[in-house]
Amino acid sequence: MTATARGVDAPGRAGIDARTLRTDRWWLPPAATTVGLLAFVVYGGVRAFQQQYFFADERYLTPFYSPCVSLGCAAEPGAAHFGMFLPDHPLIPYAALSLPFLLLFRLTCYYYRKAYYRSFWLSPAACAVPEPHAQYTGETRFPLIMQNAHRYFFYLAAVIALINTYDALLAFRHPTDGFVVGVGNLVLLVNVALLWGYTLSCHSCRHVMGGRLTHFSKHPVRYRLWTWVSRLNTRHMFFAWITLGTLVATDLYVMLVARGTITDLRIVG
Ligand code: FES
Repeated sequence: MTATARGVDAPGRAGIDARTLRTDRWWLPPAATTVGLLAFVVYGGVRAFQQQYFFADERYLTPFYSPCVSLGCAAEPGAAHFGMFLPDHPLIPYAALSLPFLLLFRLTCYYYRKAYYRSFWLSPAACAVPEPHAQYTGETRFPLIMQNAHRYFFYLAAVIALINTYDALLAFRHPTDGFVVGVGNLVLLVNVALLWGYTLSCHSCRHVMGGRLTHFSKHPVRYRLWTWVSRLNTRHMFFAWITLGTLVATDLYVMLVARGTITDLRIVG
């Protein structure tokens, strides 16, 4: 043992040679997390830069391209609800105004931190499994100190969720057929409802609702909101994963309809 040994090798710790005494499949959750997150990042990355098949049936805009603010959005009249001002360049996603903030919102999320600290950084991979890192500085230094900016990304994510809601509502109006309802509308609605579930169940949202209060009894409205958000908050991990799935499913649906691979089934109109 060296003088600088830390963690399980620190002076005074039991001298156990085995890496861990756990006999269960403790590596399964971090491995599954790695696969799940990587799959989403690869899919999202490919789609964000594809710059094609993002608008279907003249009304369905995929969340990966919302808001569509690039000059390239002109290829799909009706997709740009908030104007077009970003240069049309292969390296600039059409939704470059929202995607970086959504990424930062998820990257600094308290649940995802736990997920990727365990799966990618092995810090630690699981309870009673020593981490390979010799030092632990927590989130006190750059770059991890940036995790503290999560509350600001929450505000931006809430604005983007409003934009996604606007997209989903606008999708009920077809430029020539008027009010219509198709399977795509249901897909967009379910996705946006779950996105709100994820956004409102955020720990920062819970703090915004009921944090820094000395007496809940003097703030009944904030107490009520805090109670609702607290209930959602217990399901934050669920919303974190299900929204990765619904984002991909929604984007895939819009892409397949836009490509003509499948036809959107009209329920009304
Ligand atoms: Fe997960 Fe805020 S804690 S989004």
